[in-house]
Amino acid sequence: MTIADAPAIAQLNPPRRILLGPGPSPVDDRVLRVMSAPLVGHLDPLFVRTMDEVQELLRYVFETNNRLTIPVSGTGSAGMEAAVVNLLEPGEEIVICINGYFGERLSEMALRAGAKPIRVECEWGGPVDLEKARKAWRESNARVLFAVHAETSTGVLQQIAPLREIVDERDGFLMIDAVTSIGAHSIGVDRNRVDACYAGTQKALSCPPGLAPVTFSDRAVEKIKSRKTKVGSWYLDTNLLTAYWGETSGGARAYHHTAPITMNYALHEALRIVAEEGLENRAKRHERNHRALVAGVEAMGMKMAVAPEHRLWTLNTVAIPDGIDDARVRNRLLNEFDIEVGGGLGVFKGKVWRVGLMGAGSTENNVLLLLGALEKCLRDEGFKVKDSGVSAAAAFYAGN
Ligand SMILES: Cc1ncc(COP(=O)(O)O)c(C=O)c1O
Repeated sequence: MTIADAPAIAQLNPPRRILLGPGPSPVDDRVLRVMSAPLVGHLDPLFVRTMDEVQELLRYVFETNNRLTIPVSGTGSAGMEAAVVNLLEPGEEIVICINGYFGERLSEMALRAGAKPIRVECEWGGPVDLEKARKAWRESNARVLFAVHAETSTGVLQQIAPLREIVDERDGFLMIDAVTSIGAHSIGVDRNRVDACYAGTQKALSCPPGLAPVTFSDRAVEKIKSRKTKVGSWYLDTNLLTAYWGETSGGARAYHHTAPITMNYALHEALRIVAEEGLENRAKRHERNHRALVAGVEAMGMKMAVAPEHRLWTLNTVAIPDGIDDARVRNRLLNEFDIEVGGGLGVFKGKVWRVGLMGAGSTENNVLLLLGALEKCLRDEGFKVKDSGVSAAAAFYAGN
């Protein structure tokens, strides 16, 4: 047997980017440090304690007492898939509110799980049309309604309470995507009686991508336990995952799959940082930096893509001015300032920039730096900047 020469590949040396896109967000050095801690086994007493603590901290950020609250191994989409394959049986209807890219993704997952999506198509850049959703709910046999709390593709925050009212018309189940709200906007899983909620680690929790926190209400667990068919995914079956994660703290842990130890260390530290700051302070910080950014963007003569009352604090969609090349400005920001911002997705492709101010990235420094850099890049591209964005944001900070 001849073996090819071993490839000579240089060691990675990633630059220190300022991550102000739709995710991942900047990660605190404390999180990076714990990721270089020694590995232990996935049933080691230290790791079992880590799991208990991660669950306790996740209940805090989800604002729930749900026993079934765990980080699924995989990114946000794995959490999404876990919600779909566990809560829905083949042939079952689900009302899916679609006002952006991620509602669309869930609809595709529901189809693949053999469920019957009833699509409530709403305008991109606005919240869910509640009358349409109510009508779809009333006219269907669905027991589950889904919506995205924080639509990362559009920058829209969806109120959860009115959706709960709709599903309460016949004791339904509410499924919510909180990938871009967790750790910044209050989700209130228990307050809103959300039955299945999933999130990601790489947005406002400021942890690298790789785990998907999920939580299921006791009612949802009952629904899953009384399924007529097995959960279609072995890896994401919460019945099996529960045997490893234990429903109650301190319960026996049985092997299911090898948990990503390092990622759980990282989430543990990221969640400790969230708890130290406190959810309310964290929400206030995200709102303040979001508002300062908006003040700067508007002072420069640009517009936000979403009406003020529906705006996310974590993900800001800025309408790209006429005649300005989307990719050229983003490339300038990256190459000249090491700043990453996102381009538009789907309907919003080429129409908006997506500016993430999430977790450790939501700071006064980053807002002022981005506004200054953006002003320089826009001038270079021939845009007539109206007023100084930096001055407007600084004035906002001085008064707030
Ligand atoms: C709202 C929303 N849902 C789901 C996902 C999917 O998460 P991931 O890319 O981590 O798989 C994302 C990712 O950006 C998202 O923003």
